Amino acid sequence: MPRLVKAGNSTQLLVDNTPYLILGGELGNSSASSNEYMRPVWPKLKQMNLNTVIAPVYWELMEPNEGKFDLSLVDSLIKNARLNNMKLVLLWFGSWKNSMSCYVPEWVKTDIKRFPRALNKDGVQQEILTPFNRDNLEADKKAFVTLMQHVRQIDGRQNIVIAVQVENEIGMLGSARSYDPAANAAFSQPVPEQLLRYLRKNKNNGDWEDVFGKGVATDEYFMAWSFAKYVNEIATAGKAVYDLPMYVNAALNRPGWNPGQYPSGGPVPHLRDIWKAGAPGIDLLAPDIYFPDLQHWCDLYSRSGDALFIPEIRFEKDDDAKAFFVFGHYNCLSFSPFSIESAEHPESEPIGKAYSILRQISPLIVKYQPLGKVSGFLLSKDSLSQSVTVGDYRLIVKHDYTLPWSPGSRDGAWPLTGCTIIAVSPDEFYVAGTGVVVTFASTTTGKRAGLLRVDEGVFQNGKWIPGRRLNGDQNNQGRDIRIPMNEYSIQRVTLYQY
Ligand code: DGJ
Repeated sequence: MPRLVKAGNSTQLLVDNTPYLILGGELGNSSASSNEYMRPVWPKLKQMNLNTVIAPVYWELMEPNEGKFDLSLVDSLIKNARLNNMKLVLLWFGSWKNSMSCYVPEWVKTDIKRFPRALNKDGVQQEILTPFNRDNLEADKKAFVTLMQHVRQIDGRQNIVIAVQVENEIGMLGSARSYDPAANAAFSQPVPEQLLRYLRKNKNNGDWEDVFGKGVATDEYFMAWSFAKYVNEIATAGKAVYDLPMYVNAALNRPGWNPGQYPSGGPVPHLRDIWKAGAPGIDLLAPDIYFPDLQHWCDLYSRSGDALFIPEIRFEKDDDAKAFFVFGHYNCLSFSPFSIESAEHPESEPIGKAYSILRQISPLIVKYQPLGKVSGFLLSKDSLSQSVTVGDYRLIVKHDYTLPWSPGSRDGAWPLTGCTIIAVSPDEFYVAGTGVVVTFASTTTGKRAGLLRVDEGVFQNGKWIPGRRLNGDQNNQGRDIRIPMNEYSIQRVTLYQY
């Protein structure tokens, strides 16, 4: 079974008993609802060297009539992933998709008596199922369990499906909490013991406002707890029939916005502990990254040993550099640009080129990650140079345009560049990436580091096949390692000290 395991300080996703990095792409929301539409998409995904597709399963199409299930779209995803030699992560678009309940079946949408809605502060119904209702939960759970049973039945041996996202970007909109009658009743109840115990504040009994104070922050804690409990029950029921890793994804809190303006109570960084307390059946809280400061969000989601799993990131030019950075720096488990099939020229897409390299070095990354021997770097005009010490060497990585003779050095805009560096022995490193210049310094005072030899090459079936010996202009007469802008390569570097 695909599963998450601890290795040293990092978490690894085991697929077919081997640590696996998701070099993924998420499909646009509606793409997987039509096999016809998907037909030309699969070859595109292959051209971009994806090893995993992240694809939605739609409750409305899976259970168009209550209790009558149609799993043909899921079958087709699994079949095509297998034919294309890829793995799948399924997204359960159930009760909530980007806060809204737009993917619930028509028989749920139209029966608001049986399947009640969340209300905003003014008492106005939203197209959002309230999490404070058993019928809502049971209907979703039944469908989800049916999905998991089906996946186990058709895929339990081959394991094309390697993880499941439960719901999508949960959170209340319109106000920070729901004001439906069941929500109001729950809000005036004592804060659940389970949460208090987790927060180690159990001396502080009382209702939500007694414990946390009055304000939108409390409303948001309350929603986070309620969403977490709801989703936990769904995930746990699904895991009981088929125990795959399960995660929830977050629409991030836009700086300066209030809960309710962004989806209130979703698995955002400041609600991590509430989600962990309420949803122990969820393995990972995962950020959807559409804001510019990648490092800020990754830092928040990898605190205290949490595994970073990026199910969605904005599909843009410098995703190549970002992928090299996150796999090297954060022990990241998944990288996945959203709406990946929208690539117009898949053959020349930067992320495809990065994946081609990352595919080759994945076995090295997962082998040396638990030993702390893998580093990742992201360079920009605002961050021209970074350094890290590994064993006896200081690695200094700079943007390619810092070289005055680099053709782009006088350009106004500098694209992001990045690399992954793996130390495989005290004097030997693999540098893989794009648009970087790397120099090495000795950590011993009075000594200098030199390049003994540098080979460019590829890994074929895990075996290193050297190509050109790089020297002269290619490594600045022995001074540094360079992968020029718009080039993608792996270089094996052996150092010495003098
Ligand atoms: C994040 C959501 O999770 C996706 O399903 C999609 O709606 C994107 N936003 C669109 O940017």
